[in-house]
Amino acid sequence: MQKILIMKLISYQFFFLVTFQYLELIMKEDNSSLPFRNSSLRLEERVEDLLNRLTLEEKFKISSGRLMWFTKKIKRLGIDSFAMFDGPHGVRPDYKGERPCTYFPSAICRAATWNPQLSEEFGIAIAEEVRELGAHMILAPGINIQRTPMCGRTFEYQTEDPYLNKILAVSVVKGVQSQRIAACVKHFVCNNQETNRFTYSAEVGERALQEIYLPAFKATVKEAEAWSFMSCYNKVNGVYGSEHINLIRQTLMSKWGFRGFVVSDWNATVYASTEGCVNAGLSLEMPIANVYKVKKMLKAFEEGKFNIDDLNDNVRRLLRVMFLVGCFDSQDSLPKGSRNTPKHQALARKIAQEGIVLLKNENELLPLNITRIKKIAILGPNAKLKTSVGGGSSTNFPPYEITALQGIKERCKDKIEIIDSSIDPDISILFVGLNHEENMDAEDTDKTSFKLPSDQIQLIKDTVKQNTNTIVVLISGSPISMEGWIDEIPVLIEAWYAGMEGGRAIADVLFGDVNPSGKLPITFPKKLSDSPAHKSDKTYPGDENVLYNEGIFVGYRHFEYNNIKPLFPFGYGLSYTTFTYDKLQMNNTRVSDDEIIRVSFELENTGNREGAEVVQLYIHDVESSLPRPPKELKGFKKIFLKPKQKETIIFELNSEDLAFFNEELNDWVVENGTFKILIGSSSEDIRLEIEFKYIN
Ligand code: BGC
Repeated sequence: MQKILIMKLISYQFFFLVTFQYLELIMKEDNSSLPFRNSSLRLEERVEDLLNRLTLEEKFKISSGRLMWFTKKIKRLGIDSFAMFDGPHGVRPDYKGERPCTYFPSAICRAATWNPQLSEEFGIAIAEEVRELGAHMILAPGINIQRTPMCGRTFEYQTEDPYLNKILAVSVVKGVQSQRIAACVKHFVCNNQETNRFTYSAEVGERALQEIYLPAFKATVKEAEAWSFMSCYNKVNGVYGSEHINLIRQTLMSKWGFRGFVVSDWNATVYASTEGCVNAGLSLEMPIANVYKVKKMLKAFEEGKFNIDDLNDNVRRLLRVMFLVGCFDSQDSLPKGSRNTPKHQALARKIAQEGIVLLKNENELLPLNITRIKKIAILGPNAKLKTSVGGGSSTNFPPYEITALQGIKERCKDKIEIIDSSIDPDISILFVGLNHEENMDAEDTDKTSFKLPSDQIQLIKDTVKQNTNTIVVLISGSPISMEGWIDEIPVLIEAWYAGMEGGRAIADVLFGDVNPSGKLPITFPKKLSDSPAHKSDKTYPGDENVLYNEGIFVGYRHFEYNNIKPLFPFGYGLSYTTFTYDKLQMNNTRVSDDEIIRVSFELENTGNREGAEVVQLYIHDVESSLPRPPKELKGFKKIFLKPKQKETIIFELNSEDLAFFNEELNDWVVENGTFKILIGSSSEDIRLEIEFKYIN
């Protein structure tokens, strides 16, 4: 009986499905000759034409997603889904790895390269993979400021510094969009921790927003015309990101001139309202309709809670990007896609090579001389760790992933014996660190400990006791405490989560095939309480509110201002060669508003290996009416030099680089007075400085 009933139900369902699809087909207009399909018309003409053809209900419908990664189709007009995939370290089109993609080093590793060119190439490569998969947008880059080393997503974000953040973010967006794929800059803004991320309010002052948290977002609009932004889960000063009219409609759109669309973070609208989101400027609710359910939208509209102009503006923005990425153009007219190419894999290796940071190298134990070593012990839980899967939405499914052990074995093949015990090797290489498990470097949770797991600390101590030639390699994505063991080991490397070619890149650095040139994009504190966000429970993790009481004193700004010595400073990283800085010159020691400030100096590779130095320029406002950090990064360059080669390095600044945000005036100001330009190899290691007067 039951069986018959089920059979009947199925056949009814089938009947309705077929009839529905048939009706849809005959209702579908022939739209091939409509103006919006005509690629010779101007973009805005096409957008307006399509917008005007949509019914009110279709506008509601296109404002929310379906099946995780797609917008709803409007079959009547032949509008197909706009498709978007995660994420910041490579494309992930599904959760099973059915369509593998290149897994690039994590964003903190890419940032440690301090090489904008590589970020741009990375942007191009992920866009090519998105295109090959038939999609239109990559949910990257993630550019929230690393406010605390405890944030579970520190590995997914770039840096603690707004200037480095901005340069790299702009490069990624430019790279992605050069392929007519949309970048989605996320998470706007102050998603600086995962604890209570759906509910907390970042209580942050205007000056800190302007100087620290917003600049990179702003630059992706002003300098790279980003096509999409993702709103954050959290509130900012009491208002949820997706309904933050001040941040979205007024700042992003009106002040910065953003022409793209804002998409919610996945389910970020759970506590929001329909009108709040429409009025703020949220074009797309993902992954499915909640506040943008057609019925809810209609009701709010009929009750006059939002007006048609704002709705049209939101929909227009989404349509505009659909045109920009070529949704309505012939495939032949679009840049070609490609996936998992040797070129992309070589790029993954290059980013890892340049992002790995050499933190300590006593007695020049590194680089290892392959002809002099007979036996190496490879130890520690992270030697075989694969880091592509896990950690949240940054998960990737690459076609392969070379672990550290595999990379070293491959390099040492037939030359050095690799063993897995610490008895009697010439060298022990110990791979410790974190992983993407919950409460470590993972989305949705913050770290619960600032220390390495205790068994790993014990392992370091035991190994070094047995063999003083012990090299510790950290595979991790955020600063950790090294109390109790750092002084006992001669060599330390931060290798981050270095992508699918990471193991090879680690071997390249260990054996000197590559001279390390990575520099820390984040300060490593000695202890957590030294960190600016960790002054009380109210500043981190907070409860309903998280008080950003440190204001602009985030990262090295705080350590410098309060004279706290970090374990490893921002911008720090060693090389196998040495560089000298000399002959600093400045065009003028009295500058006024419209003048370019030009400084030049000579950099020389004084060692006997080819290498790259990241030269860093900081400014110091000597006579400021408001407290300012002793150093603010305003320029950097990565310079590759052969042994004994010299290069003249030129930096140009303008008055904007000297400005700070004055909350009373609600504007940026530059004050007359003395400034210093500090040039060095890290935020602590300043090699040259010069003073000048700014007079307006
Ligand atoms: C993350 C976003 C991600 C989205 C889709 C969210 O949980 O915060 O960064 O793009 O999921 O996976």
